[in-house]
Amino acid sequence: MSLPSEVSAMLDQILAASPWPVLLLAHDGAVLAASEEPAALPGDVPLRERAGHYAALVSGGDAREIASARRRADGSLAHESIHPRRMPWGLCLTIVDQTELKRLQAAEAQTARLAALGFMVAGVCHEVTNPLTSLHSIVQILRAEKDPSPALLSKGLDNIAGNVKRILDISRRLVTFSRVGEEPHARFAIDDAIEEALGVLRVDHLLRDIVVRHDRDASAVMAGRMGQVREVFLNLLVNAIQAMGGHGRLSIETRADAASLSVSVADSGPGVSAEAAPRIFEPFFTTKGGAHGTGLGLAISMEIVHEHGGAIELAQSSQYGAVFKVTFPRETA
Ligand SMILES: Nc1ncnc2c1ncn2[C@@H]1O[C@H](COP(=O)(O)OP(=O)(O)OP(=O)(O)O)[C@@H](O)[C@H]1O
Ligand SMILES: [Mg+2]
Repeated sequence: MSLPSEVSAMLDQILAASPWPVLLLAHDGAVLAASEEPAALPGDVPLRERAGHYAALVSGGDAREIASARRRADGSLAHESIHPRRMPWGLCLTIVDQTELKRLQAAEAQTARLAALGFMVAGVCHEVTNPLTSLHSIVQILRAEKDPSPALLSKGLDNIAGNVKRILDISRRLVTFSRVGEEPHARFAIDDAIEEALGVLRVDHLLRDIVVRHDRDASAVMAGRMGQVREVFLNLLVNAIQAMGGHGRLSIETRADAASLSVSVADSGPGVSAEAAPRIFEPFFTTKGGAHGTGLGLAISMEIVHEHGGAIELAQSSQYGAVFKVTFPRETA
């Protein structure tokens, strides 16, 4: 299809004036015009040849803005936002490069994690003082007894073990959390991270009495640190299993649209109580008692999800179960 000459002349002027690359596509996807790319990187594929990638992202939807991530010819990742406008003769796509912005956001997220860690460490001093005070008194009591009875000894040792476990749990979680930069960034299918988390739980026999349904979506691909994302699902799944007392149903559903992907993790009860719900993402908030939960699982998960540009929420809760929803930006080829 060709455009009337006066239209075409006007479009040429608009293309020349735009600070961002613009692509004009006919209804059948053919390139009608493409602007020059002043900021094109050496080695990148010319705008016209990338038209198919953008057209596929835009097809069908009526979003005002679509996130795109693609590999440049030199292997680096380009993040762009596509602004489609429907025209009588086809589509006008403005392509705004976001790569530098993403890089800055990633650096910002890293800084935010350090700040979060600082807050948590401040909390740790408080959280660790209780078990340490407890340990101190038990040791004093046992020392004071010349000939402690087996019952007292056993109770004292149980108490010591519980308190030591709590301190160790807190310390292990924070150490894992502080090792953020060690894993490289990569593209991966989110369902693979979920399967890895399920694998860990199977090895630990935690799924023995649980019916698991995992509804995958092969197009749900994201970019980031897979080990960290696996940790998020491990936390959500362990919470669900613990809430159900080891028996029940787990339903994991992955869905992707043009710009984002989402995973819902639903269990079969008893749900998060109305009093607990507003506080579950706070560091050290736990309803499991000191020796059984640090209350850091969801707080750390939220940090990891935010670092990946995503969101996490308790989407639903009733006596029939809790549904947690995690969303991430989607990565396209
Ligand atoms: N699926 C769920 N059903 C019911 N309550 C939940 C669920 N997930 C989380 N919670 C509530 O949220 C609280 C905080 O969860 P979080 O994972 O942060 O800490 P935790 O599980 O108590 O401790 P840790 O993760 O260190 O073992 C839990 O103590 C629990 O009360
Ligand atoms: Mg937990």
